[in-house]
Amino acid sequence: MAGLAALAAGGLCGAAAAAGLRLPADHRFPQGEGSPGVVTFSHATHVDERAPACLACHPAGFAMLRPGTATGLRAIGHAEMEQGRACGACHGKQAFEFDGCELCHK
Ligand code: HEC
Ligand code: HEC
Ligand code: HEC
Repeated sequence: MAGLAALAAGGLCGAAAAAGLRLPADHRFPQGEGSPGVVTFSHATHVDERAPACLACHPAGFAMLRPGTATGLRAIGHAEMEQGRACGACHGKQAFEFDGCELCHK
């Protein structure tokens, strides 16, 4: 049971690592005009190993073959996130909002 407790304490990140899911490395977005800091996206904190819903984000939300672009054509920015696309499919809804800049921009 100690193992289970450690899993629970580690949250999704620990669970994914423990299950040996091979997730892509963290993605650092290139900074757009006026970006207050580098945004790093982590699969480890977003993917639930028990239900790895890759399709929630790929390919419609994020083009795997052209990282950093929501549609494969344009760089991700706040204009489209505010319209509920890219990170805005969840952030500002069931996940934390955009007002805490430093939660994403480091
Ligand atoms: C919460 C959203 C989300 C989920 C869920 C998600 N991804 Fe991603 N994925 C991203 C983002 C964001 C990027 C990086 C930016 C981009 O590709 O546009 C990315 C990039 C990738 C890349 C390209 C990596 C690189 O370095 O070029 C692969 C491959 C990938 N994801 C596979 C997966 C797989 C497999 C799953 C399910 C186990 C998954 N993703 C689940 C959001 C997600
Ligand atoms: C499918 C829904 C979904 C999408 C799409 C999504 N997130 Fe998240 N994200 C979450 C949830 C849920 C959490 C957990 C925290 C919470 O509930 O507020 C989270 C947590 C985070 C965290 C804190 C954990 C960490 O990794 O440091 C950051 C930063 C973050 N998201 C950035 C992003 C960025 C940047 C994007 C777009 C590239 C993105 N997210 C897209 C749902 C999502
Ligand atoms: C949920 C994650 C998230 C939060 C919170 C967030 N941003 Fe961003 N932001 C991004 C991503 C992803 C990009 C694209 C990469 C980049 O340009 O750094 C971006 C880009 C930007 C850009 C340049 C492109 C554009 O759309 O103008 C500015 C300026 C910016 N953010 C300002 C802010 C400010 C100010 C706050 C707080 C009020 C904030 N951001 C909060 C994720 C976030």
